[in-house]
Amino acid sequence: MQIEVLVSHPATKIQGELRVPGDKSISHRALILGAIAEGVTLIDNFLESEDCIATLNILCAMGVRINKIADGKLKIYGVGLHGLKKPQVVLDCGNSGTSMRLLAGLLVGQQFDSELTGDVSLRRRPMARVCTPLNKMGADIRMCDGDRAPLLVRGGKTLQAIDYNMPVASAQVKSSILLAGLYAEGETRVREPCVTRNHTERMLRSFSQQEQDKNIKVPGDLSSAAFFMVAASLIPGSQLMLRDVGINSTRTGIIQILQKMGGNITLQNKRMYGEEPVADLVVCHASLNGIDIPEAWVPLSIDEFPILFIAAAMASGTTRVFGIGELRHKESDRILVMAEGLKQLGADVVATADSMIIHGGELHGGVVNAHGDHRVAMAFLIAGAVTRAAVTVLEHEAIATSFPQFLDSFNQIGGQVALHKIPI
Ligand code: S3P
Repeated sequence: MQIEVLVSHPATKIQGELRVPGDKSISHRALILGAIAEGVTLIDNFLESEDCIATLNILCAMGVRINKIADGKLKIYGVGLHGLKKPQVVLDCGNSGTSMRLLAGLLVGQQFDSELTGDVSLRRRPMARVCTPLNKMGADIRMCDGDRAPLLVRGGKTLQAIDYNMPVASAQVKSSILLAGLYAEGETRVREPCVTRNHTERMLRSFSQQEQDKNIKVPGDLSSAAFFMVAASLIPGSQLMLRDVGINSTRTGIIQILQKMGGNITLQNKRMYGEEPVADLVVCHASLNGIDIPEAWVPLSIDEFPILFIAAAMASGTTRVFGIGELRHKESDRILVMAEGLKQLGADVVATADSMIIHGGELHGGVVNAHGDHRVAMAFLIAGAVTRAAVTVLEHEAIATSFPQFLDSFNQIGGQVALHKIPI
């Protein structure tokens, strides 16, 4: 038997120009809203990753016609709010929490029954956060083993609008309720404990303004760009240009945090792709210092903590962040898995239930397990580039859920990552 591992060797510098793939959150929303809109929606720079393909396949299983007209270009023939058909299969979200939680909101408004499932990781993640408010609206959506998927939806319910105070800061929960709200009687209102990404609100606004066919251009994903931003910041002599990256202010925590650490990041050529702002980012090497990350910035960089922890481990001084308990409910328990991997590489890390304290210094090489979490795998591959010896990453396959071209892109700008087969 053999397993495939990724080995990341120290890089001399990060240099060049890159376009990261389309934003994952926006790609999911473009599919869903395009499917239930009237008329045709054209999506440009759609993220063709496993997570977004899961959403696409589920919509197709409900009778939506979606044609690929070129790489990253899709044509969706919208069926209207009430045009979805009963699927003949269980709807498989794979590894994608966004698919499951957003589609739950869509499905409770339909006339037919349906079932949503996912892979082992997704079936371990909490679902009561969406099912509780949806059931309060009059939906019938049931969980298994307490609050886990599979989710069983009984259709044909009359939904009532809700005024909901979200107990967790979650854009997936907010979006799920807003989608159900499209099918409810009255005005649905969601109040969030702090600001979370607002792509659903922006896209709903643009769909409701446009009566005929719609074009959506998806910005580059700042969450994918983040890996290269940290690599370029940490490796002396680096200079990197990342083109057409989304800079929606509900997502830019990573830029704020790196700048506060002393990072050299400038935003050029700011403009709009429809409702979403984009810019070209120029990142140059800088010496990073440890900081206290303000808690209000946590939801604004919620997916970037794996790579931020690598930055903190290589910075001078101590970085502290509190209020990150949500990281335990991502594709893996990111507090546990990152602390374990960082310690493996010699970092001085203290993790609690909802905080992380990292005393910066040098990392050495080693072997880490990404536990099937795409962002953990990519974060440790970046660590390999900035340490003095190679880092080997096990269980890395999930990289394809959000950034299938990661290896090629990284190697193009100076990364030294290779796939090895090792006997076991
Ligand atoms: C997302 C919201 C966030 C984020 C996820 C994508 C979205 O999840 O972590 O990767 O597209 O709405 P939460 O809503 O659980 O914070």
